[in-house]
Parts: sequence; C-alpha cells; structure tokens
Amino acid sequence: MADKKEKEVKKEMVTVLIMGKAYKVPADATIMGAIEYAGYQIKRGAGCREGFCGACATAYRLPEDYKIYTGLACTTLVEEGMWLAQLPAIPAQKPVYDIEKLAADVTAFQVIYPEVFRCVACNTCTKSCPQDLEVMDYIQAAKRGDIDMVMDLSFDCLSCGMCAIRCPAEITQFNVGVLGRRLFGRYLSKESRQLKKRVEEVKAKKFDKEFEELMKMTKEELKKRYYARDME
Ligand code: FES
Repeated sequence: MADKKEKEVKKEMVTVLIMGKAYKVPADATIMGAIEYAGYQIKRGAGCREGFCGACATAYRLPEDYKIYTGLACTTLVEEGMWLAQLPAIPAQKPVYDIEKLAADVTAFQVIYPEVFRCVACNTCTKSCPQDLEVMDYIQAAKRGDIDMVMDLSFDCLSCGMCAIRCPAEITQFNVGVLGRRLFGRYLSKESRQLKKRVEEVKAKKFDKEFEELMKMTKEELKKRYYARDME
C-alpha cells in the first residue's frame, strides 16, 4: 500500500535542471514555483507572479531538442528534463529623448532606434513573445512611421525583453514599442474627457480620504479589498 502511494507521488514529479543542477519538482509547477520548490529564493526576476509585469524571463531547453525556448517563469509550466536559466534582466540600451523634440512619424525611429531599419523580417521576435504579440509587424510599422500601428500592436507588451534576445539586427523591440506608444499618447490620441475629469478630481483631493484608508490597511485587508472590487 505504502509502495503504491509512493509510486503515485513519484508520478507527479518531474526532473528539471536549474542552472545545471537536477531537482525533482511537482509536475504541475510553474517554472517559478519549481525554482522556489527547489529551495532558491528569487530576489530579482519576479514581480506580479501572474503574467503581467514581465520581470521573470526564463530561457530553457528541452531534452533532445536543439532549440532555445523562452517564457515567463510565473506562467510557463515545467516539463520533464527542462534545463532552466533565469534572466533577471535583459540588457538593453535605453536612449534618453525628449518627446517634445520628436515628430510623430518615421523620423523619430530613424533618430532614436536606427537599428529598426536593419530588421530582416526573420520573425524571431514574434516567435519568442510570451504574449503572442505580432512584434515583427510593429517593427515593420515603425519602419513605415505608422505610429498608430506600433501603438496598437505593442499595447500589451510587458517589456520582458525576450523578443530582443536573439534578434540578428540587435533591435530592442520592447523599447521601440514604448517610443511608439509615447508618440501616440503625446501627439495622436484624442483627448479623453473622463481622464481630464479624473485628473481634476485627484487635484481637488477627492480621493485623499480613501488613499489614507488604504495606506493604513494590512496586506490581508488590501488583498480582500482588491478581489472584492467592481471589475469594469
Ligand atoms: S512575475 Fe510578473 S510576469 Fe512573471
């Protein structure tokens, strides 16, 4: 009986390699869960833990498979034989620019991210996006100066950086998307009456009492309030 139970428990475990060392972890764990199960404390490379912040980029290989895969550690499930490496940050140049001095057309990309024009349309960036965004398409849109399209296609980008890891043209696609969205916000978006009203309300201290109340809450109380909120 004890044997049978043991076998059942064993069946639910898989072996993964974390930085080259083998660990048995629950088969239904996310990569992040497996790393913590193995005893590591994740100090960099974790944020929301729910697939929203892009902090947990991971590179991995699978047995008998030459490809390098990428994924978010908090949402990608482990697989038998996975070889994992956490990427606490993706190195990327971060140009400083004054949005007021840029025009909402192709010249902005020519000046700030000229490497965009080296894009060879290999689609590697799109294939590596954990959000399934059409990354290459928004890079092509940037080349045409189509700011609307850059904004639209990159809108759900988490800036996890995985698109940029293997780009042969060395483009940092996620930063290009940020520029497109900034240009759109500064020059092309229509004025939002609701936003204007809300900003005025904030300035008039309409929500100060509620903020003070929130600041005094414990983590548990905040969680309860968060999950009980009205979803729009
Ligand atoms: S921790 Fe935020 S996306 Fe994974």
